[in-house]
Amino acid sequence: MNEVTEAMHGFAEWYGRQPIGVWSAPGRVNLIGEHTDYNDGFVFPFAIDQRTAVALGDRDDRVIRVASGFAPDAVEIHLEELAPDAISGWSAYPLGVAWALGELGADLEHVRGVDLYVASSVPVGAGLSSSAAIESAVALALDEHWGLGFDRPTLAKVGQLAENRVVGAPTGIMDQSASLLGEADGGVFLDCRSLDADVIPLGFTADGLSLLVIDTKVEHAHASGGYAARRASCEAGARAMGVESLRDVRHDDLGRAAELLDDETFRRVRHVVTEDQRVLDTVRTLREQGPGAIGPFLDASHVSMRDDFEISVPELDLAVATAQAHGAIGARMTGGGFGGSAIALMIDDLVPVVTREVLAAFAERGYREPSVFVVHPSQGARRDA
Ligand code: GLA
Repeated sequence: MNEVTEAMHGFAEWYGRQPIGVWSAPGRVNLIGEHTDYNDGFVFPFAIDQRTAVALGDRDDRVIRVASGFAPDAVEIHLEELAPDAISGWSAYPLGVAWALGELGADLEHVRGVDLYVASSVPVGAGLSSSAAIESAVALALDEHWGLGFDRPTLAKVGQLAENRVVGAPTGIMDQSASLLGEADGGVFLDCRSLDADVIPLGFTADGLSLLVIDTKVEHAHASGGYAARRASCEAGARAMGVESLRDVRHDDLGRAAELLDDETFRRVRHVVTEDQRVLDTVRTLREQGPGAIGPFLDASHVSMRDDFEISVPELDLAVATAQAHGAIGARMTGGGFGGSAIALMIDDLVPVVTREVLAAFAERGYREPSVFVVHPSQGARRDA
């Protein structure tokens, strides 16, 4: 049973009637461009083939109810009561989106309530943006059902606002953009300052390549700790350099940055500045030479995250090193860091070999068994039924 069927069944079971529609949105893998989104920089993620579906039914009153496969109970709230403080737990994602639509200009005073049921095949806590998948699916569903007419970049902002203000994670715009703008075989090259997005063919399948995800099962927690600390360092670095954001620091400015900043802040800044350049290099190389030539940028990105930004963990380093040692074209951790997943690009034939070697390497170290699977660049949010 896929997530769409599951959402329909779950809806019927909870609410005792059929939904009037089902919408879904994918998780994402970031090919390259990490911790650059909130620095007004560049990212290059793609939507994956694991999705979150939301089944929707209408109501005559002004109540929103949400139920899901994640939690035993349904949550209900009156549309008038929607506010960041009034929502918590997993329902912060779908209900936070309803609140954020109002914040970004939707007239929620004249809409009726809805019943929602959420079902997902995006692994939670794997750094594959299961939260953005919920937000994007709910945002598209409510936008269409309520006839709001928001475009997709605005719906991405809605999801980000829900994440920032209701869930409480100070994340950027990348995940929701990938989930809403992704296309089959396409990478979303996004300028996070102008929000100009260009979907670029990745051509993995045509060139006989596979993108392997290695979910280390190490928990990452964005809402707390490391992620917010990195963001704060970047903002401090930008302030000290006298620029609006690190997007405005050129490679040539790094010498001055080294003199101005303490060593740790300097290394945070150097990661962001060089990572922006690696995104541009990856996109150019992909266009000129195809996906088989982008490996060195992925490898360099990992080193920068490990040594300068310090967001990797031993499990991620092992996954990357093992994939590289067994012939991957390139490999890096993906997402916010402190756990989650690594990705490795390789020729199709190597998938069984790298999978086996990664499992063996983890077993040898006594690490928890990772989950290793191939993902395909897929279509973004859509209506399914
Ligand atoms: C998380 C955030 C994104 C982005 C990445 C790091 O996925 O949600 O906004 O900052 O981390 O690149």
